[in-house]
Amino acid sequence: MSPRTTESRSSSVALPRASARAGSARASTFAVELGNVHKSFGDKAVLRGVTLRIRRRETVCIMGGSGSGKSVTLKLISRLLEPDEGTIVLDGQDISHIEGQELETARKKLGVLFQSGGLLQSLTVAGNVALPLHENTTLGEAEIDERVSKILELLKVSDSRDLLPGAISGGMVKRVALARAVILEPQVVLYDEPTSGLDPVNAALVDEMIRDMRRSLGITQIVVTHNVPSIFRIADRIAMLYEGQIIFDGTPEEAKSSDEAVLRQFLGGQTKGPMGAQV
Ligand SMILES: Nc1ncnc2c1ncn2[C@@H]1O[C@H](COP(=O)(O)OP(=O)(O)O)[C@@H](O)[C@H]1O
Ligand SMILES: [Mg+2]
Repeated sequence: MSPRTTESRSSSVALPRASARAGSARASTFAVELGNVHKSFGDKAVLRGVTLRIRRRETVCIMGGSGSGKSVTLKLISRLLEPDEGTIVLDGQDISHIEGQELETARKKLGVLFQSGGLLQSLTVAGNVALPLHENTTLGEAEIDERVSKILELLKVSDSRDLLPGAISGGMVKRVALARAVILEPQVVLYDEPTSGLDPVNAALVDEMIRDMRRSLGITQIVVTHNVPSIFRIADRIAMLYEGQIIFDGTPEEAKSSDEAVLRQFLGGQTKGPMGAQV
């Protein structure tokens, strides 16, 4: 049996995914591997040898102070930026310097939820979520509608399907943006500060949604955040970025008992310690 990629994509979004798709590297345990990645802007060295491996189906939180290079790291993984040095491997494929059609194909393995959400204000909730299906598949209206309904139900936004983004709350906007990011069933979802700008209750709801996504879709998730309560609610593993490198990588329990001074200061929100203001 050798299913074509398009056929294997037609499974319902609410079902556990097949462990690997046609064309993907089955051998790799890791969904994403960063190896000694360097990135500078002018004479500013933002990443100075980042090494981080993210296992399949794991939720990893990358934390770090403002300006530490968290968003840059996500942009490198999604190859909106190119590394100066080092390698970025996605699903077993070195994507560090690929371009054109090859890059487009690799990017389909990723769903990205950037800070702003970026919904189109002129389309309804359902219209926004359907957009990637219209743009990237040849599915008919009935099947698109069915998939959109399923994901909206999973993220508990079905009641808002016919509303415009301007008419729904900030927490709802995040949910709809996530629905749109996962509608093509990516293997890996990247989140940049998913709870920023939300009140504590809505932040907790978004965290719950991230946990649900892992359970129901079995995806790999990389969440950039500096919200400490969020980190402990969602992370299987925590990586801390400081001065251009990963200075801690471990479970939440290991983070709690770590003696690493920068980590202690960050988790405790203390003003005194090795971390200065990095703006
Ligand atoms: N496209 C860019 N051009 C120049 N400098 C950039 C660019 N993107 C990010 N930077 C700089 O890199 C540093 C890290 O940025 P960023 O990854 O956005 O930080 P954060 O950890 O807060 O997400 C900042 O000093 C920022 O100004
Ligand atoms: Mg950022």
